[in-house]
Amino acid sequence: MEKEQLEPYELHAARQLAAEMWSKVIRPGDTVVDATLGNGYDTCILAGLVGAAGHVIGFDIQEEAVARTRERLSSAGLEARCELHVLSHEHMADFIPAEVQCIVFNLGWLPGWDKSVTTHWESTRTAVLAALDHLAPLGMLTVCVYPGHAAGEEERCRLLELLASLPPQVYNVLHQRFLNAGAGAPECFAVQRQRRRNSPKQ
Ligand SMILES: C[S@@+](CC[C@H](N)C(=O)[O-])C[C@H]1O[C@@H](n2cnc3c(N)ncnc32)[C@H](O)[C@@H]1O
Repeated sequence: MEKEQLEPYELHAARQLAAEMWSKVIRPGDTVVDATLGNGYDTCILAGLVGAAGHVIGFDIQEEAVARTRERLSSAGLEARCELHVLSHEHMADFIPAEVQCIVFNLGWLPGWDKSVTTHWESTRTAVLAALDHLAPLGMLTVCVYPGHAAGEEERCRLLELLASLPPQVYNVLHQRFLNAGAGAPECFAVQRQRRRNSPKQ
């Protein structure tokens, strides 16, 4: 493609950084997990990346979020490759295969809905630990956090602590944030399992 025909590259959002990483690790036919369905924007991106032979397993505690996601997927003709659960992501281990290529969290509340129904560290921690355990070799976990509210700030701090303590022989951990965006700006964490499961780094 000619250079002038390409979309301009704009670096502006934690969610965009996460989506760029998904596109690098997901291949047609993969199984991936959306741990926070919300409006279904991320689910649609994931469903596009896994293709017709792939599978997206999604979770949200709110019926409204699952309904919004189902509608978005259906309009895009992507519903058949997705399995949606009205369930806390804490229980994902009971529904996902032993090895998953990509697991994504976009924490917080459902936009335009009840802000008191938000993610909380206790359940986020359980779910993130399950996600880490289920990553395939070179599989990727991304977590977008919103520290502009109290529960989000707690998630950010605790997640930072947890992910920074992961063994470097098993995982590579990245933390991305916009340094001049002010306090409370969204941040993105990414964890990739090393090429060989549980093997020490060469
Ligand atoms: C910021 S929204 C997700 C946005 C979504 N990924 C999108 O593309 O539109 C966060 C979602 O997390 C959900 N949520 C909160 N606690 C949860 C839990 N324990 N398990 C699963 N989902 C949860 C909320 O209901 C809300 O829909």
